[in-house]
Amino acid sequence: MTQTFTLAHFSDLHLSPIVGLSPRYWTAKRALGFFNWQRHRRHVHVPAVAKALMDDALSLNIDHIAITGDLVNFGLPREYEAALAWLQNFGTGDRITVIPGNHDVYSWIGADQGFTRWAAYMGAEAESLVFPFVRRIGPLALIGLNSAILTRPGLASGRLGAAQMEVVGDLLERLGNEGAVRVVLIHHPPLPGMTHPTRALTDAHHFKRVLERSGAELVLYGHNHVTRLDWLAAQDGAIAISGAASASAALAIGHDTLASYGVYTVSKSDRDVRITRAIRGIASDSGDIVELSDDVLIPR
Ligand SMILES: [Fe+2]
Ligand SMILES: [Fe+2]
Repeated sequence: MTQTFTLAHFSDLHLSPIVGLSPRYWTAKRALGFFNWQRHRRHVHVPAVAKALMDDALSLNIDHIAITGDLVNFGLPREYEAALAWLQNFGTGDRITVIPGNHDVYSWIGADQGFTRWAAYMGAEAESLVFPFVRRIGPLALIGLNSAILTRPGLASGRLGAAQMEVVGDLLERLGNEGAVRVVLIHHPPLPGMTHPTRALTDAHHFKRVLERSGAELVLYGHNHVTRLDWLAAQDGAIAISGAASASAALAIGHDTLASYGVYTVSKSDRDVRITRAIRGIASDSGDIVELSDDVLIPR
């Protein structure tokens, strides 16, 4: 019997308006970020665009939606609350999985609970949330990682750290042995050299070795705001490393492309797995949401 499952991949929503930027939360990092936002980013990231893409995905009867971080901009308590309400408009935690990005762990928030407000979308309670988390959904195992760390102004780097690194290799091997289609979710580009060092995953070399050794079928990431597809040779077959554009980008500025998201169709039988990727997003000529590309990932 063949099981078919569809997963949509969204990233980098950068939802606005900016709420709760009170004097209490002013830091050098937020001041610089706010300057950037006012001058540039607020013209790029339009919540109505992200909503239109989410509505598009829901109209396709997608089974599950994964969002790989940067839901907010300045890591403010009221932003987390607003993002939670935004998520709730589209579905509960059993339809949507979220992991944090660097903008979701941005600067000082004191004892505030931060992005753990979204724990239901990570399959956990706020108090018991740990990374990596695993969600078994249909034929998939979603492995959620947290690469978001506090950084100095001007930096957007990330790190998985020893604790996650230690667990994720064994986890991938076990899930592979169980026959699950392993989909790793991480905000930062997972391999060395995929972005500028000031924005990169600082332990990407280590993570690459873990992936090579333990395997996965698919790694989904964001952060670069660009659709991209790379391959990593691993012991049990090539891993598709797939990056998503920002799902709210109303303008294509610099390297950023117009908003899009990925639709992964996974067909699994006892004997084999087939995975395709369609990118759906805003057509630059008409402004309509259309299919922009279509690739077979497995078999390669
Ligand atoms: Fe982002
Ligand atoms: Fe990011």
